[in-house]
Amino acid sequence: MIIIGATSGIGEELARQAIHNGYMVGGTGRRTNRLQDLQEELGDSFFYAKMDVSLFDEAKSILQSLIDEMGGMDIIVLNAGISNHPAASITAMEQKVIDVNVSGFVQLFGEAFQYFRKQGHGQIVGISSIAGLFGSSRAAPYSASKAFISTYMQAYRQRCNRIKEDITVTDIVAGFIKSEMTEGKKGLFWVAETEKAVNQILTSIEKKKTVAYITRRWRLIAWLIHLIPDRVIDRLW
Ligand SMILES: NC(=O)c1ccc[n+]([C@@H]2O[C@H](COP(=O)([O-])OP(=O)(O)OC[C@H]3O[C@@H](n4cnc5c(N)ncnc54)[C@H](OP(=O)(O)O)[C@@H]3O)[C@@H](O)[C@H]2O)c1
Repeated sequence: MIIIGATSGIGEELARQAIHNGYMVGGTGRRTNRLQDLQEELGDSFFYAKMDVSLFDEAKSILQSLIDEMGGMDIIVLNAGISNHPAASITAMEQKVIDVNVSGFVQLFGEAFQYFRKQGHGQIVGISSIAGLFGSSRAAPYSASKAFISTYMQAYRQRCNRIKEDITVTDIVAGFIKSEMTEGKKGLFWVAETEKAVNQILTSIEKKKTVAYITRRWRLIAWLIHLIPDRVIDRLW
């Protein structure tokens, strides 16, 4: 299993739990010291490579090298994401979120998809969000980026079915989970412990689910959001 964005939060805990379940894991991120610490903790089953997903060509070639070093790949978890970024202007900040959450995602998704097509099987997991189910004035590019990846993964599931590829595409629709991203943020509720949420994510991956709400109770919220008229949503956040 290769986890893109394994240096903190969900990705880091997923690396831990996957190794505990017997997987060989490759982790990436920009913070090399975190990757080194994880290897010290997890041992020889953990491989790592420094990667910035917004440097698209470099990221794809690093992914390929990591696959080679590990002797193959059956599952990739596209977990890297940001909700905001220090920048000189709002437009520059929004562009950065799109570079990481959308363009970085698409580039690595494409690389993995081609790899799995050649191999004949594989699983691509993306971490979207409940925030993708509606626009949020406090996080416009973030909520839009998560809507994009959910729709993108659905389209690829259709494509796999149409061309009869044995590639599973799993959309993890996450509610609030404890991590660096949610630390110190106000107004959050039902914030899940990282260990519990990641345990459910790993189970969903192993069951080859197509869409999984994490934690499970967020399925109810998703259902309710779909019932709320746009004119009400437009005034909520
Ligand atoms: N926590 C939640 O409540 C929640 C809810 C819904 C969805 N999610 C999604 O879950 C995913 C993981 O988030 P988290 O909550 O675990 O937050 P986190 O602790 O901030 O982890 C984010 C991960 O993404 C990596 N990353 C960020 N920018 C990157 C870049 N340019 N290149 C490569 N890696 C990059 C980070 O690594 P480096 O900084 O080392 O590069 C880190 O490993 C994100 O996609 C997030 O949108 C989280």
